[in-house]
Amino acid sequence: MSTSIESVMQETRVFPPSAAFVEQANVSGMAAYEAMCRAAEQDYEGYWAKLARENIVWHKPFSAVLDESNAPFFQWFADGELNVSYNCLDRHLATQADKTALIFEADDAKVTRVTYRELHARVCQFANALRSRNIKKGDRVVIYMPMSIEVIVAMQACARIGAIHSVVFGGFSSKSLNERIEDATACAVITADAQMRGGKVMPLKPVVDEALAMGGCDSVHSIIVYRRAGSEIFWNAKLDLWWHDLIAGQDTSCEPEWVNSEHPLFILYTSGSTGKPKGVQHSSGGYLLGAMVSMKWVFDYKPSDIFWCTADVGWVTGHSYVCYGPLAMGATQVVFEGIPTFPDAGRFWKMIQSHKVTTFYTAPTAIRSLIKLGGELPKQYDLSSLRLLGTVGEPINPEAWMWYYTVVGQSRCPIVDTWWQTETGCHMIAPLPGVVATKPGSCTLPLPGIMTAIVNEAGEAVPREQGGFLVITRPFPSQIRTIWGDPERYRKSYFPEDMRGAYLAGDSAQCDKDGYFWIMGRIDDVLKVSGHRLGTMEIESTLAANPLVAEAAVVGKPHEIKGEAIVAFVVLKGARPHDAAAVKQVAENLRAWVGEKIGPIAKPDEIRFGDNLPKTRSGKIMRRLLRTIARGDEITQDVSTLENPAILEQLKEVVR
Ligand code: WTA
Repeated sequence: MSTSIESVMQETRVFPPSAAFVEQANVSGMAAYEAMCRAAEQDYEGYWAKLARENIVWHKPFSAVLDESNAPFFQWFADGELNVSYNCLDRHLATQADKTALIFEADDAKVTRVTYRELHARVCQFANALRSRNIKKGDRVVIYMPMSIEVIVAMQACARIGAIHSVVFGGFSSKSLNERIEDATACAVITADAQMRGGKVMPLKPVVDEALAMGGCDSVHSIIVYRRAGSEIFWNAKLDLWWHDLIAGQDTSCEPEWVNSEHPLFILYTSGSTGKPKGVQHSSGGYLLGAMVSMKWVFDYKPSDIFWCTADVGWVTGHSYVCYGPLAMGATQVVFEGIPTFPDAGRFWKMIQSHKVTTFYTAPTAIRSLIKLGGELPKQYDLSSLRLLGTVGEPINPEAWMWYYTVVGQSRCPIVDTWWQTETGCHMIAPLPGVVATKPGSCTLPLPGIMTAIVNEAGEAVPREQGGFLVITRPFPSQIRTIWGDPERYRKSYFPEDMRGAYLAGDSAQCDKDGYFWIMGRIDDVLKVSGHRLGTMEIESTLAANPLVAEAAVVGKPHEIKGEAIVAFVVLKGARPHDAAAVKQVAENLRAWVGEKIGPIAKPDEIRFGDNLPKTRSGKIMRRLLRTIARGDEITQDVSTLENPAILEQLKEVVR
């Protein structure tokens, strides 16, 4: 980790925005940015209150701004009332009802456009349909759907009636879905018969059926199924309802449920350092404010923009920059069902050309894979509509950054490398494109009003050019409110005592001499594989649950395209397989097992077998050693405390 940071820290290229970009930017020039930072420092609550009044339509204005009395359970704008769906839809009807809200491009390239008027009507209709099933404020609704107009309708409809949605990424398995439904005690699941990806039909409803059959989901009284692919599916007349039947005859207007600013808008499960995913709970008012100001500041949003964030709504990026941020701003955005490599690796570029996309936001892993599959392809398309590019999810290596900048952005478009997390709700550290000169690989400076610092184990600030833990020292509106059903885990994970009340992000970072932030990686057992957040403990406990496995340890190793690859070290209950064929066979079975239990994204890239794992005499697995072995590096660590040095040789063996 420290060697990779050292190499990016040698990066000396600096890319200031063009004068033309600066001139038109929402936040224009360093002086404007510094004035905002100063305003936040001088009157923190006043700063955020002003923004909350300017950006959000309040049904009942708030008088209290930040309540820290029950820290770290902070409250923002707590006596204000609003409805998030009203803020995303109704507020635009008087001024731009006929503006296109969504340009939906299906896997097969069929395009459907939806105006704000139509989207509003569809959300109202579906909200009424949910109410007809007696789903109401505070109820939890799990959404397991493909990228579609309908998934946005479903999320917005939940927000409209005050139901709390929990979107589960369509790539998660029935077991993962089962756990999330049970943890949230959801009353309904909204799904589709199947999803279309890369020309293939991938079942969804059958996965929901399996999840329910596993038990623990008695809270579910309705399964609403959107017909996407026309697949044959099993039908349980007691639970299952077709989306189209349910909305038939429903009114296209629907009085929103006015909720308190702190009312939970959604729960989104994410991986942490234990085996059990955490249900990150977000608020309504504070979250919406974060999504909106970051659209304005970081994406420099203009009403004429065609915005495209490629993230799936199953991740936080798809919540903040597909479902909520762009709609609250009244933007026109592209929503894409398919994958970047179908029918070929020119798909993104072709779509940018045909929809005249101005702002494009994607993940470093997608950029790297598209470089590999067709680094010259963007040149075949007219990308002149682009004015701003963004990345998210993991550090971007300078080579990929330079390609994105020169080939995709034609050296014209600033790149916003946005650091944030499921827990922070919106961008925290990212260049304001009309302010900050960017450096490839750095997410640059915090948003004005976000108080970041790099500290040591004792929570003390470290000098520049020295690594440490990334913390946010003041509560901010869009932050996580709690972990659903587990407030103690929330407190322990994010506000450990040593950090003196600051929010501990879980990343290590350092600031360079100009105060630019460089993210080094996670400090916990969380991996970023193709931008997907996965806990090593989750994968370990899944492996250990296999009848063949006695013990497993999972670590990450750098991967050219995925960022990180998963390497599992496994001790079997029976004898260690010796010949290559047997090793392959067992490894393949275990990979399939993990795919089935968590989802294909969690399948280890590599599995190695040993008679034991390297442990200290006190029985602790030496993970650092395993990381070195996984990378194929020379072991330079002190192995004198190792109980069983002989097994190192076994674990070094790679069988492909
Ligand atoms: C990592 C995704 C470097 C980081 C929005 C963080 C990044 C985790 C960046 C959160 C970036 C995200 N540069 N690292 N620009 N953005 N990360 O919850 O380790 O899926 O803690 O949220 O991704 O992942 P999550």
